[in-house]
Amino acid sequence: MAVNDQIFKNALKLWATGVAVVTTRSEKLGIQGMTVTSFTSVSLEPHQILVCINKDSGTGKGIFEAESFAVNILNVNQEALSTQFAGGASQEERFANVSWYEGATGSPIFNDSLVSIECTMDEKMSAGTHWVIIGNVEQVSCQSGEPLLYFNSGYQGLVS
Ligand SMILES: Cc1cc2nc3c(=O)[nH]c(=O)nc-3n(C[C@H](O)[C@H](O)[C@H](O)COP(=O)(O)O)c2cc1C
Repeated sequence: MAVNDQIFKNALKLWATGVAVVTTRSEKLGIQGMTVTSFTSVSLEPHQILVCINKDSGTGKGIFEAESFAVNILNVNQEALSTQFAGGASQEERFANVSWYEGATGSPIFNDSLVSIECTMDEKMSAGTHWVIIGNVEQVSCQSGEPLLYFNSGYQGLVS
């Protein structure tokens, strides 16, 4: 089947993922965060991960300014945060009811997320509409719990 935008989207929404909020803090733009599903591990030596960020994203501009970011992987009870960090809300509104602290690199770390991974930016690659941003992992914190999952444009939890 030849590919158009709709066929491309319909296929990729069948890829089940976790959900994360990427955060950063820069001098000019302050604290920022946005929801992402395009997160994956990259390298064991050095420890690297990547996120893909739309070139129009304000948070992406903050990441480039700060050259650091954190990936806060959401737990199954944090669906509301995923929506909050993906919509038209201002950054102030996004962080208003979130309990967080400043990590070693300055990026906001959510107190209640399943995992938080703090990174310094290694490199960014242009790929069409998005930047592929590779981060060197500097700090990690994990908590017990179950992940929030995203599949076929909807949220789910693990089925046991
Ligand atoms: C479940 C979900 C996953 C998303 N994943 C991504 C992603 O991987 N990369 C991206 O650039 N935007 C993604 N978005 C869209 C951004 O979260 C959204 O455009 C956000 O408002 C960008 O914020 P900003 O422009 O203020 O930085 C996702 C949205 C949702 C709801």
